[in-house]
Amino acid sequence: MSHAVTTVSKTRVRLAFSVNGRRVNVATDPLQRLSRVLRENLGLTGTKVGCDAGDCGACTILFDDEPVCSCLVAAAQVEGREVTTVEGLAARAPLCDRLQRSFLRHGAAQCGACTPGMLVAGTALLERNPMPSETEVMDAIGGVLCRCTGYRKIISAIQDSSLAESETYSPATGNAVGQRLIRLDGHRKATGAEIFGADEFPKDSLVALAIRSPFHRAKFQFGNLQQFLSGHPGIHAILTAKDVPGRNCYGVIPPFADQPVFAEEETRFLGEAVAAIVGDAETIEALDITYFPIHWEELAPLLSLDEALDSGAHPIHAGRPGNVLVRGRVVRGDVEKAISEADAVVEAEFETQFVEHAYIEPEAGFARRIGEEISVQACTQSPYMDRADIAAILGIPPERVRIIPTAVGGGFGAKLDLSVQPFVALAAWKLGRPVRMTYSRTESIRSTTKRHPSRIRVRAGADKNGKLLALDFAADFNTGAYSSWGPTVAGRVPVHASGPYHVPHYRALTRAVHTNLVPAGAFRGFGVPQSAIAQEQVYDDLAGQLGIDRLEFRITNALENHTPTVTGQVLGEGVGIRECFVVLRSSWKTAQDEARAFHRNSVRPLRRGVGVAGMWYGCGNTSLPNPSTVRIGLKPDGRLSLHQGAVDIGQGSNTIVTQIAADALGAPIDRFDLLSGDTAITPDCGKTSASRQTFVSGKAAYLAGMSLRKALLKIVGACECARITFGDGQIIVKENEKQYTIFPNDLPLDKHGYVVTAEETFDPPVSRLDENGQGSPYAVFGFGAHMAEVEVDVELGTVRVLKITAAHDVGKAINPTLIEGQVEGGVAQGLGMALMEEFIPGKGENLHDYLIPSAGDIPRVETILIEDPSSIGPFGAKGIGEQAVIPTAPAILNAIHDAIGVRIRKLPATPDRMRAAILAAHETED
Ligand code: FES
Ligand code: FES
Repeated sequence: MSHAVTTVSKTRVRLAFSVNGRRVNVATDPLQRLSRVLRENLGLTGTKVGCDAGDCGACTILFDDEPVCSCLVAAAQVEGREVTTVEGLAARAPLCDRLQRSFLRHGAAQCGACTPGMLVAGTALLERNPMPSETEVMDAIGGVLCRCTGYRKIISAIQDSSLAESETYSPATGNAVGQRLIRLDGHRKATGAEIFGADEFPKDSLVALAIRSPFHRAKFQFGNLQQFLSGHPGIHAILTAKDVPGRNCYGVIPPFADQPVFAEEETRFLGEAVAAIVGDAETIEALDITYFPIHWEELAPLLSLDEALDSGAHPIHAGRPGNVLVRGRVVRGDVEKAISEADAVVEAEFETQFVEHAYIEPEAGFARRIGEEISVQACTQSPYMDRADIAAILGIPPERVRIIPTAVGGGFGAKLDLSVQPFVALAAWKLGRPVRMTYSRTESIRSTTKRHPSRIRVRAGADKNGKLLALDFAADFNTGAYSSWGPTVAGRVPVHASGPYHVPHYRALTRAVHTNLVPAGAFRGFGVPQSAIAQEQVYDDLAGQLGIDRLEFRITNALENHTPTVTGQVLGEGVGIRECFVVLRSSWKTAQDEARAFHRNSVRPLRRGVGVAGMWYGCGNTSLPNPSTVRIGLKPDGRLSLHQGAVDIGQGSNTIVTQIAADALGAPIDRFDLLSGDTAITPDCGKTSASRQTFVSGKAAYLAGMSLRKALLKIVGACECARITFGDGQIIVKENEKQYTIFPNDLPLDKHGYVVTAEETFDPPVSRLDENGQGSPYAVFGFGAHMAEVEVDVELGTVRVLKITAAHDVGKAINPTLIEGQVEGGVAQGLGMALMEEFIPGKGENLHDYLIPSAGDIPRVETILIEDPSSIGPFGAKGIGEQAVIPTAPAILNAIHDAIGVRIRKLPATPDRMRAAILAAHETED
């Protein structure tokens, strides 16, 4: 069948096709990407764009019932065809309805950015094969990347979709905590209705485009900007440092703030912004910035730790001698003496790489000026920190800045730092027009923060019984051109580098070192995954030297209640690490037996190995105030507003904080209306990082729930023992034989617009560390241990992870499904860090060259939740987000060593590095 295409102008054609069963007629550039047509011409923003290159699969749609990446389909190809997007899946009931329900039940959507693509790919599979095997599901979703879930729950959701189970919406009153409640925001994610940074903006928005340095370090001079502006009528402004009305500087840790919105005279890393062009969307899209008037003079950069630390190196920032941003130090006992007396000593050096966050949603948002106020709607993990920085940049008080977080399509730490916000805020402020910006994948990878590369030296000693005596740890972290979270990494690592063990003599010294590379910042674990890679491999070698089982070595040394940590902190409760190791004993033995049996029955080149590693992680800021405030308001109709500002980046804080508030108050969960994150309507819950939202914001919600309960009891004069029941328009309080009724509608409104309001703040009790790093840096720690089973092909140098068994002490599992999701996602990221991911600045700035695990790379994951409660956390809960990623990589590396006797000291363990290490080991043997 042929289709006629009507030409409406030189570059636009009118196309007729069917979308979700509806005939549409669109005038567009025939070469326009279909993904763009769907989103911008037809408003179908459920189709996400993560790369525009066919790499991520977020834009997957059904094209005449075949799943394809809509970013690779030219608009002209769609004439007369049939397109189904996530918004149209509902019409394919009951299959899609069941699939969406299954996604909710399994917790298969975390941030939700990949979910539309996954649902579409899953639908295509199920329509031709209603009972697919695991391998068939993995194949079907192999082209859709997910950075959050680790794929396991997505695979299960697709396989189980034929089951007629419905999701659980409403547990009994007072019984929400501990339930596998489906995400309260899950329905939006499973239907494509969720609004991410690029999904919403005023129609008349201009578009901002940053001009960025093409060199690692360069001087620059602008040419005639005015002439460029006059030559492009669609361009409304070119903004440079001169246009910043306030401070041309921002940073997540105010005393270290050093990053300009626009560089002045010299750029410090490849990808640094020097200007922003603001214009109408068509002009910006068609613009060739090759002709932007700027003269670059490339300067010699400092690209490595050695270059930056060299005595002749140029200073990247004044006042930071030797290019050292900050040092960290924790010292206890006499390390030298203890090591000299040890029966076994191991010394080793390790190197870890830049790791890219690779969330599926690139940074995006818009700003608009409303009178003398500015409003910024964007994806962010830290609305109040953004507010402070935008206010400083614009030179206005923070109260005149409103930050409205959108759904966040994955963050993992990088969306704590500003990205598009200063550009759109500044442009909207100057021009009085709304301005939007969406980073391309390349721009996102090139300019946003990464996991710190590190170089770590470790010496450790133990006695003949396997008791750890001492650890001597020194690490340099490449923090890149600006401070970002460098001070946090340098400060947190020395506290954690012992691992979750009793180490009586300890010295850990760290430095964050500036280079002319992209800033390194926060990435799940703040440096602790890097230190665990070193410490856990060295402990394995110590056990090996002493002839002690590696798991038993860890059990022998595991911290317990009342054992001092390396900062001298004595935790009197909730130290669950020993239990995490002990619970692995039977699997450990089985896995080793299976590996031995495999070797008896098979011939090389395949070798199997088993590894284990432990972790601990302090929840919240290190020795710093860390408050969250939560407000609950009772409305005249008897419903409850929960103002919780903990930004949900996929980890589930919207749901978990509500579960906690509901049980503390004694109200059913479906009574709550959730208000999240917006600085104009929610109090400050701090940033979503450092595994603090369940613990800190959750505790604030717990206190607010208790406080509202008390206020209701006080209204009727009932005692603490009374029972409260929330009914329609009335609240019944029963105290023994007495019964009172509160009619909220009869009560006066308070200043918040509620009839009763409770607002509570929680700040974890911590103390400052002294000059030797001694003190109590965290009120609560999470603990965990992972066991990895791997298969190594010694000829190809490839590693296949067969299974991860992950035991985590979470204090109290508020929502086991969401916690498992964190663990499985952490495992996938740890696997990527161990085996495949490495960002090389200036190269591979896309998801084709920068490889993250896809569904086919993922092993079986068994999660074991230990509940050793903390009396400080809400209902005993601790954090899990950062914890989950830490032990995976060292467990895999230890398993590789177990399989082939080779230590990988420079990550990732790619096949070339594996082969080189195998050959080097053989040469040594010879
Ligand atoms: S946006 Fe189309 S594959 Fe990534
Ligand atoms: S849930 Fe898959 S990318 Fe976030």
